[in-house]
Amino acid sequence: MPPILLGIIGGSGFYDLPGFEVINTVNPVTPWGFAASPISIARTASGFLIAFLARHGVGHTYIPTDVPARANIAALKSIGVHAIISFSAVGSLREEIPPEDFVLPSQIIDRTLCARPNTFFESGCVAHVSFGDPFDQDLYGVLSQCGSSLQNGAKLHSKTKSDDLTVVCMEGPAFSTRAESNLYRSWGGSVINMSVIPEAKLAREAEISYQIVCMATDYDCWRVNEEPVNVETVMKHLANNRDNAKLFLMEAIEKLEGPLLAGHIGKNLRETVQTGIQTNL
Ligand code: ADE
Repeated sequence: MPPILLGIIGGSGFYDLPGFEVINTVNPVTPWGFAASPISIARTASGFLIAFLARHGVGHTYIPTDVPARANIAALKSIGVHAIISFSAVGSLREEIPPEDFVLPSQIIDRTLCARPNTFFESGCVAHVSFGDPFDQDLYGVLSQCGSSLQNGAKLHSKTKSDDLTVVCMEGPAFSTRAESNLYRSWGGSVINMSVIPEAKLAREAEISYQIVCMATDYDCWRVNEEPVNVETVMKHLANNRDNAKLFLMEAIEKLEGPLLAGHIGKNLRETVQTGIQTNL
């Protein structure tokens, strides 16, 4: 069997892989328990294998704080995944990012409240991995070339040479207050979600190339004269976003298959944990 090099994490509204031939389902137990959902292994037309996991569980049973992120990442690592494309519904903090646009953030502001286990390391094995650039540059480079297949006028935003795009990760499950939303805007936040942390940190510790693909569902609550975000607004855009996520994924797989098989994705991440382990300070 060919290796399963690419993992997909589906977020709100994205719980399976329609249009792909699922050839197997696995549910490995990890030292951190079971992942939020079994992992579907699917084969593309060219024979490339991908693995899909639903972050919040198949019936969306986990609130963001309780998502078993360590088990999710460890389960994907245990089947040999080298890169993860993770999808997430987000609120937009910028006028130029309307609902249904896609965003590839290059930076993260962590506003979770220490309620989530966010490392694989424990006392006895202390490691401090680099996280200055929280997403893998190789994967970012390829994904930023995708997006031409998006429908209904949706656009992909990716960073320019001088400007990062920043995802703020909040604890939830309640949405932000207006004051918080305005604060995040003043910090340079582009979009906001409840999922990228600790997923991105854990993927880095696992030496897995990782990128979140944000799909806007609302303008959060900073816009004057507009109702603050509610579940109804989010739901309204989820179905379109899911259809576009699938199109985006098809493009991404086509562009990633060669570089992944050749070992060109995530090359700067290999053995970074070894150098981050603190032995005798
Ligand atoms: N997910 C979707 N919309 C969101 C918002 N406005 N804030 C946080 N997470 C979200």
